[in-house]
Amino acid sequence: MTNFKEIKANTYEDMSNEAATIIFDALKESKQFSLGLATGSTPEGMYDALAKKINEANLDLSELTTFNLDEYVGLDESNDQSYHYFMEKHFFSKLDIPQENVHILDGVAEDLQKEVEDYEALIDEVGIDIQVLGIGRNGHIAFNEPGTDFNSLTHKVQLTDETIEDNSRFFESIEDVPTEAVSMGLQTIMKAKTIILLISGDNKKNARDLFISGEITEDIPVSILHNHDNVILITDSAARGE
Ligand code: PGA
Repeated sequence: MTNFKEIKANTYEDMSNEAATIIFDALKESKQFSLGLATGSTPEGMYDALAKKINEANLDLSELTTFNLDEYVGLDESNDQSYHYFMEKHFFSKLDIPQENVHILDGVAEDLQKEVEDYEALIDEVGIDIQVLGIGRNGHIAFNEPGTDFNSLTHKVQLTDETIEDNSRFFESIEDVPTEAVSMGLQTIMKAKTIILLISGDNKKNARDLFISGEITEDIPVSILHNHDNVILITDSAARGE
């Protein structure tokens, strides 16, 4: 069950650089590229490193398309806890990507059902070349919590208490954390040609263990990736318990 490749980086910075290099090399190869993006503290360093490489090389991003994994329901882009805001701050503001090529689910859409269906249809049309993923302590990917159907497409989700608690560190109080989100489904994520899974820190050791155990079950959302042929796991030594 080890059809994935693991890059064993040392520090968080090394992990971030490994991921940035893989994406940068792919962007250099192909101007017309579709990149799936993730939020959270894990990919912050990767965004820094990637934006730096792109700007140093003066890479033309006019034909780059991006798709983000998820967004909180009820937070608009001006809210500093929204994933729109995060992406602007950590990545998009540093680069010149055509606004119309940037896709993030709208958590304040009037018709959320239409929003998720349109998003899935657009992903089907454009495709995703590389999807970046972080992981939750419980093995969630995007907002697909344990028990999510492996066939799920982009959909509205209820957050688990564990995820609300984990994410409360970014909010003033736990009551401020949204309880719902819109998220690519597990099947949506599997449509990407290549997946880069980043796992960093000793609090994610258990999540890595869950993944590399090789068991495939809807109780461990990340385990669906064992059914994908092109997964690159990049870990730092803390995530490996070293
Ligand atoms: P984190 O979140 O990068 O902030 O740890 C990852 C996730 O929950 O998917």
